[in-house]
Amino acid sequence: MNQTAQEEARPAGPCTIVIFGASGDLTRRKLIPALCNLALANFLPSQFAIVGFAFDALTTDSFRQQLSENIKTFATSAVDAKVWTWFLERIYYVQGDFNDAAAYDRLRTQLEQVEKEHGTGGNRLFYMAVAPQFIAGIIEELGKTSLAHEENGCWRRVIIEKPFGHDLDSARKLNADIRRILDESQIYRIDHYLGKETVQNIMVFRFGNSIFEPIWNRHFIDHVQITAAETVGVEHRGGYYEGAGALRDMVPNHLFQLVSLTAMEPPVSFDADAVREKQVEVLHALQPPSPEDVLKNAVRGQYGEGTTENDHLPAYRSEPNVAAGSDTETFVAAKLCIDNWRWADVPFYLRTGKRLAKRETEITIQFRRTPFVLFRNTPIKHLQTNRLHIRIQPEEGICLSFGAKVPGPVMKVGVVNMDFDYVRYFDRAPSTGYEWLLYDCMIGDATLFQRADMVEAGWKIIQPVLDVWKALPPRNFPNYAAGTWGPPEADELMTRDGREWSQADCL
Ligand code: BG6
Repeated sequence: MNQTAQEEARPAGPCTIVIFGASGDLTRRKLIPALCNLALANFLPSQFAIVGFAFDALTTDSFRQQLSENIKTFATSAVDAKVWTWFLERIYYVQGDFNDAAAYDRLRTQLEQVEKEHGTGGNRLFYMAVAPQFIAGIIEELGKTSLAHEENGCWRRVIIEKPFGHDLDSARKLNADIRRILDESQIYRIDHYLGKETVQNIMVFRFGNSIFEPIWNRHFIDHVQITAAETVGVEHRGGYYEGAGALRDMVPNHLFQLVSLTAMEPPVSFDADAVREKQVEVLHALQPPSPEDVLKNAVRGQYGEGTTENDHLPAYRSEPNVAAGSDTETFVAAKLCIDNWRWADVPFYLRTGKRLAKRETEITIQFRRTPFVLFRNTPIKHLQTNRLHIRIQPEEGICLSFGAKVPGPVMKVGVVNMDFDYVRYFDRAPSTGYEWLLYDCMIGDATLFQRADMVEAGWKIIQPVLDVWKALPPRNFPNYAAGTWGPPEADELMTRDGREWSQADCL
């Protein structure tokens, strides 16, 4: 967190965070380190506590011990001993089965005790760090026990992790189920991409500067590319990933966040609903593909074994908890069209995958080419078009590439860059990406969280792809070697339109 943010933001108000799934990976890797960073930067209130709830046989003492071990591995910077002691004194554990009504009685007793001891005022944030199949059941129990009922001026909020459903119908059902118990204003559907500074910066870049917005449309932009490439494989998540695949795992959530922020109209304010209204308009304007479009404009892939300079990489089908003949896709590329006045005829090409050649999340805006006539009688054969690279990770920044005359007597054009690098400009403490999302929920700011209609609109667009792919199982899996840029069909998606995937020309 930087100096300026600390000067302007204040600690959140009193509250207790209840983490369902407290003994799991997300809690130890992200939530506790993020809360610890918030404590270190003075964004947590002094009237604060955490109650972990999970099935594992732990006690408050052994849970605290476990977290003290884990934080050594997962803290994003050295942990201040004083802050950690303060933090640990506020952490409690309740053991229980998510379906067991008696466990919720124990939770209530623990909560009331903690609320009294730490003066958290009855404000409660429930974090669902659990597998998706448990979410509706837990919220139902919260409803039956009134634990999440807002009363006596206390707020009660629920953060729900992705995946939110596994298709359009299940997402609609989940929304309907939880809205029988909670008001939409209590529901915070998290997408950790929105916790990234570089993602939030897309709006500032577009709407906080006067020079980009006038050219941010079909008159100047040829097409947009969004790549979220990972070098890691499926790791230890085969069990989950087998039922999800790259499309569900990345597209209706993370990639559509990037699409909507890139393509949205200017909101009238940074108010949560003003921003989300404009984002959802983009999702509604995205055209759900017909079955023919799916066959033509969506590509799936699965990695086979491969090699890097130093390693041999196993095939997806050899990963733990993955079926030997699995048809699950680990790569997806697609061409989408936004049918509105700003973007008609400007294709958006998306691609994401595991075990690709490079870790890189980037939005590339490719501008239209200039008329060539001026250069006709020179040695120049073609002109590079201008490209704007919005780099999300691991490099963070923005780079504009343009043509410049190469010095010398002969007319030659080289590509040069204007480059902004986040780390070089701003002195930022490393973070998990969850800090601001947790803080925003504590202060009741839902701007960076998904509304029910946004989630459903996202699923609506990819549902036809899910349907066609289910009906026609892939015949050529595995179709790319681990450590490469995916199957050749992904390149063909571009070359047949006379385009190519951007290889970072800003370094
Ligand atoms: C998660 C997906 O939501 O996002 C993972 O489930 C993926 O499969 C991850 O690896 C990518 O996040 P990031 O922040 O590393 O780009």
